[in-house]
Amino acid sequence: MPTVALGLLAVDVLVVDHPLAKSRLTAMRDARTEPGLFRAALHELTTMLVYEATRDYPVETYPVETPVTTTEGTRLANPPLLVPVLRAGLGMADAALSLLPESSMGFVGLARDEATYEPRAYMESLPADLTGKPVMVLDPMLATGGSLEHCCRLLADRGCTEIIVLCVLAAPVGLERLERSGLPLRVVTASIDEGLNDKKFIVPGLGDAGDRQFGGM
Ligand code: PRP
Repeated sequence: MPTVALGLLAVDVLVVDHPLAKSRLTAMRDARTEPGLFRAALHELTTMLVYEATRDYPVETYPVETPVTTTEGTRLANPPLLVPVLRAGLGMADAALSLLPESSMGFVGLARDEATYEPRAYMESLPADLTGKPVMVLDPMLATGGSLEHCCRLLADRGCTEIIVLCVLAAPVGLERLERSGLPLRVVTASIDEGLNDKKFIVPGLGDAGDRQFGGM
């Protein structure tokens, strides 16, 4: 996986810049895109991100009977636990589970405090022991990185040593925060955007991915 240098830091990040991914991302960025089309674009883009993120996943072989003969079949050796971060990550869950039907799913609910910009946890439904289990975290937005750092720390505290963070947009400052965290993760994203505005929204970004899917709270 390519490494992108950010200042003095280096973080494992794969930017999926396939033309079809770019077109879905453009639909999501467009402020005129209605919630239904936004959710559809997120679903399709997530399919592409999962496809690329799993390219190097270990596989195992097993015999399979075709209508003609026996041949060697292939399946994932250790399907990941999928963890959407509520709310916005819910819009990525169905696409990920479709490509990884053998996976199970955990949930983490986080809301970013509007004053401190730090995450407030309100829900946690995860297996107690994640030793030896790869995890794929789903959240469209990596802004300050506080939410994803919090989520990945929950996973590492349960013994997880292999985390892929799947996001639509990543801000450089968020990537740097994840790098500084020392957590065992890599990032797969559709774009590294310019930065954050004074309200800690990603610029140019796409707004609030939760509100764009489900409406304001
Ligand atoms: C958004 C987004 C991330 C987080 C990113 O969620 O989905 O979880 O903010 O910000 P950070 O990197 O600065 O922590 P939000 O808290 O708005 O909740 P929502 O998904 O319910 O809309």
